[in-house]
Amino acid sequence: MKKLQVVISSSTVSVSLPALAVVAVVLLLTAPRPSFLGRYEPNVASLPSSSSWRSAPTPAVVARVPRDCDIFRGEWVPDNDDGDGGGGAAPYYTNTSCAVIQEHQNCMKYGRPDLEFLRWRWRPERCELPRFDATAFLDLIRGRSLAFVGDSLARNHMQSLMCLLSKVEYPKDVSNTANPEFRTMHYESHNFTITVFWSPYLVTANQSNPAGGLWDLYLDEPDAAWLAGVAGFDYVVVSAANWFTRPSMFYEAGRLVGCHYCLVPGVPDLTLRYSLRVAFRTALRALTAGGAAGFDGTAIVRTLSPTSHFEGGEWNKGGDCRRTRPYAANETRMAALDLDFHTAQVEEFRRAEAASGGVARLLLMDTTAAMLLRPDGHPSRYGHWAHENVTLYNDCVHWCLPGPIDVWNEMLLQMLLFHQPGEFSV
Ligand SMILES: *[C@@H]1O[C@H](CO)[C@@H](O)[C@H](O)[C@H]1NC(C)=O
Ligand SMILES: *[C@@H]1O[C@H](CO)[C@@H](O)[C@H](O)[C@H]1NC(C)=O
Ligand SMILES: *[C@@H]1O[C@H](CO)[C@@H](O)[C@H](O)[C@H]1NC(C)=O
Ligand SMILES: *[C@@H]1O[C@H](CO)[C@@H](O)[C@H](O)[C@H]1NC(C)=O
Ligand SMILES: *[C@@H]1O[C@H](CO)[C@@H](O)[C@H](O)[C@H]1NC(C)=O
Repeated sequence: MKKLQVVISSSTVSVSLPALAVVAVVLLLTAPRPSFLGRYEPNVASLPSSSSWRSAPTPAVVARVPRDCDIFRGEWVPDNDDGDGGGGAAPYYTNTSCAVIQEHQNCMKYGRPDLEFLRWRWRPERCELPRFDATAFLDLIRGRSLAFVGDSLARNHMQSLMCLLSKVEYPKDVSNTANPEFRTMHYESHNFTITVFWSPYLVTANQSNPAGGLWDLYLDEPDAAWLAGVAGFDYVVVSAANWFTRPSMFYEAGRLVGCHYCLVPGVPDLTLRYSLRVAFRTALRALTAGGAAGFDGTAIVRTLSPTSHFEGGEWNKGGDCRRTRPYAANETRMAALDLDFHTAQVEEFRRAEAASGGVARLLLMDTTAAMLLRPDGHPSRYGHWAHENVTLYNDCVHWCLPGPIDVWNEMLLQMLLFHQPGEFSV
């Protein structure tokens, strides 16, 4: 078998901001394989330690969308409101005002020439989605805790939130581990804690043969990486998708039941649709009342970020995402793997809801349709220096910061506004 070796390495030198750690990732990939968009997965640099400051306390009045407005259905429209009456939107933050932008998502730093992708806002069909209000968010979430469980897109989401909140306060890194995949950040003046748990499959996973890339997935075992950690959190945002595209063996009750693209005679290929579905079922069962996680907060299921934005080839065959504006709603629609993953996630969410007899604190954060329309929001080749002396791929998986992913937190704020603890019991 032919082997591809990919080395991604970059470092940041910044004058006044805390230096981001050097990232060095070696991925061993084995060809030939089908399309593995999820393989583009640079490891994290550790978050910089950060300073915090207090802003003058202002009682926040938060705009709420009407209850009958579905914030997940809509379109992207030009953003002409920057508050100065002059037209032209201002991004919430920049790579100088926010010190926690992941290297590979710092598109401005790496020379992205167009700013057009920052000039759109998401408009739901029946209402306006209020802009993110950092003061309101922190007031609302005072004394509470939020965990992100998932892969590098969960981290992308958390970093967007930290950048949006940086206008008011920077958190302190209070992680109890040096592992950069598990960060805990504390907002002292609001006693708000956010944590990210690395768990790209949500269930126990082990790369039995690192060189061959084959993963063993224990589909009925929630991953200990988060299971033990989430008890006591008020909110957990659960997400996963891209890693299921990797070749894997499926175990249930300790027995090999099938695989995805393992090409092992006698092992049925149940496909990645099966593994994703069962993994979500397992994770949600663990998170609902009486589940193995001992969690009694609100679980938020974030649907997948599209896997389909590579054009002109697969991720490792020259595929890229060079569009500079969003699609109109009638220019594309969810299809193929994105549609199958999305269907499985929504169905498993509904199943968990039903199984709990309607008392589960479960919320669906259905971001896929909005993000599908944003092929222009990825780093593409602006996630690294053009002249780096290494083999690099275009990143059409993660999202530039600032960028369209910031809408996830505009949506999250509205969800939190509607679902205060206690509002579920009725
Ligand atoms: C921020 O982006 C600019 C280009 O807009 C770049 O010159 C600068 O190095 C970046 N700074 C950091 C800290 O990433
Ligand atoms: C901070 O919040 C935690 C819950 O997240 C709570 O247990 C703790 O008492 C709070 N601390 C203060 C000083 O309010
Ligand atoms: C994970 O795989 C390694 C081989 O790479 C093996 O030694 C180990 O026992 C496996 N762990 C589990 C929990 O299956
Ligand atoms: C999409 O809708 C717009 C109006 O919103 C229309 O101008 C355009 O022609 C439509 N495009 C397609 C491909 O149907
Ligand atoms: C690129 O890396 C190779 C191997 O490490 C080295 O021989 C070569 O000189 C490097 N080229 C440049 C332009 O840095």
